[in-house]
Amino acid sequence: MRQLVRETMLAPEHLIAPLFVTESAAREPVASMPGVERVPVESVAADAVALFRLGVRAVVLFGIPAIKDAAGSQSFASDGVTQRAVRAIKAAVPELAVITDVCLCEYTDHGHCGVLAPDGTPLNDATLPVLGRIAVSHARAGADVVAPSGMMDGMVGSIRTALDTDGHPDVAVLSYSVKYASAFYGPFRDAAATSLLSGDRRTHQMDPANAREALREADLDVAEGADMLMVKPALAYLDVVHALRAQHPSLPLVAYQVSGEYAMLKAAAANGWLDERATVLETLISIRRAGADAIITYFAGDVARWLRDE
Ligand code: PBG
Repeated sequence: MRQLVRETMLAPEHLIAPLFVTESAAREPVASMPGVERVPVESVAADAVALFRLGVRAVVLFGIPAIKDAAGSQSFASDGVTQRAVRAIKAAVPELAVITDVCLCEYTDHGHCGVLAPDGTPLNDATLPVLGRIAVSHARAGADVVAPSGMMDGMVGSIRTALDTDGHPDVAVLSYSVKYASAFYGPFRDAAATSLLSGDRRTHQMDPANAREALREADLDVAEGADMLMVKPALAYLDVVHALRAQHPSLPLVAYQVSGEYAMLKAAAANGWLDERATVLETLISIRRAGADAIITYFAGDVARWLRDE
């Protein structure tokens, strides 16, 4: 009876698995994210195949280059770590949707998401052509979806134009439309080595106190041609997920259960304070119930396995 009247479903195809890809020789555990590893580009296709066999239909790639510089030049290199990972995954499992994170922070030595002014603040408009260039390099490698995460105004429009001009009208743009300046990204910065040398991201990421502004951010992205929208983090922002679902009912909506949400559940489970499987499934069904179509989660592989064994 409970199944007959259940309103919200959770299946592996609702999940998007993040993968951290490196140019290192060996897998490296991420200390603050037990169970998550940085994976050498040579091994990433095997991980993607394993996820696909479990029913996961999409991955999002975060490339961590061996060399970071002030311009983040590895971000658009045709043989960069992300571009190589895309090619390897698409060759091994073409049916798996490959989403790439489009941002400078993983590639710059200063850790900021954009080109910097002499005083160290990120410059919005000077960054836009670079984002277009990164997106095109990902599309040329075979990415299905590019996901700009830097919260620069105009990023969706410039990426759309760059993709179309380079002959990639079918590559979709998933915008991190509503990305809060959140303390829950701490472990990701450890995983991707993107800690800022100075400054913060509050000039471009949103104030956690604002929800109406989120609608405006999403409206701008839709007007610029976004194919899908995202809210990030997820659990502390379910009201925003719900509001965006109502505001743009016809667009796919993604929520990102971020590194800190993962770390929090893992830590409590490791201490025996929470039942990992039950609490993780409860958070994910809540995010779906709030209105998300898909969820980016570091639990994707585990959840797909749990659902299979149920
Ligand atoms: C930026 C980016 C970040 C995350 C995804 N893309 C970090 C940031 O804005 O500092 C965070 C994801 C997570 O915490 O799991 N490229």
